[in-house]
Amino acid sequence: MTLPPTSVLNAVLTRRSAPRLAEPVPDPAELARLVQAAATAPDHGRLRPWRLVAVSGDERARHGDVLAEAADTPEQARRAAAKPLRAPLLLTIVHRPVPDHPKVPEWEQLAATTGMVTTLSLLLHSHGFASIWRTGAAIQAPQVHKYLGIDDDEQLLGWLYVGTRCASDAADRRPLDTLPRITWHTTGT
Ligand SMILES: Cc1cc2nc3c(=O)[nH]c(=O)nc-3n(C[C@H](O)[C@H](O)[C@H](O)COP(=O)(O)O)c2cc1C
Repeated sequence: MTLPPTSVLNAVLTRRSAPRLAEPVPDPAELARLVQAAATAPDHGRLRPWRLVAVSGDERARHGDVLAEAADTPEQARRAAAKPLRAPLLLTIVHRPVPDHPKVPEWEQLAATTGMVTTLSLLLHSHGFASIWRTGAAIQAPQVHKYLGIDDDEQLLGWLYVGTRCASDAADRRPLDTLPRITWHTTGT
């Protein structure tokens, strides 16, 4: 099947997470446009129950120091300190649910937030950038919450590491067998 390069199907099929990322990154104006577009992902009640904290430049080293503080062993601390340096831009994903919403339970709000992040990763890809969503034990660490300004009623869902894929990294997608995951209850033909 030949697809137009701009088709949604093509973007979905060619997106791959990128473990190693380099410059360039979207500038703040382009990032704002992409996030605005990603915010149109399905969202019951249009609550937009999320926010992003962008970390870039030398601040990544400071973020790494905070991750190291939260580590259990010196070896983990050494590796944690280097983590934010794996990409030129980190988008911290903060879930900010509206508590006790009369119509939209928190799981639906979490679904809206994750839908936004997935949409953003596709938009980044379609604009020539790459990303990877990463989490880890640090998402629970008080030091990390304090550094990023995460409130008690918010949840840190990890980081979307953003940049441009290193040319040497493969970006092929193995075929997925999802047919058994579809069952039909239908009548007629
Ligand atoms: C919520 C969430 C958290 C993730 N956390 C990590 C992580 O901490 N480390 C990691 O290597 N991959 C993590 N992944 C998986 C990668 O983001 C990525 O999806 C995976 O490497 C598969 O690559 P693909 O997106 O190209 O299929 C996470 C994915 C999701 C959705």
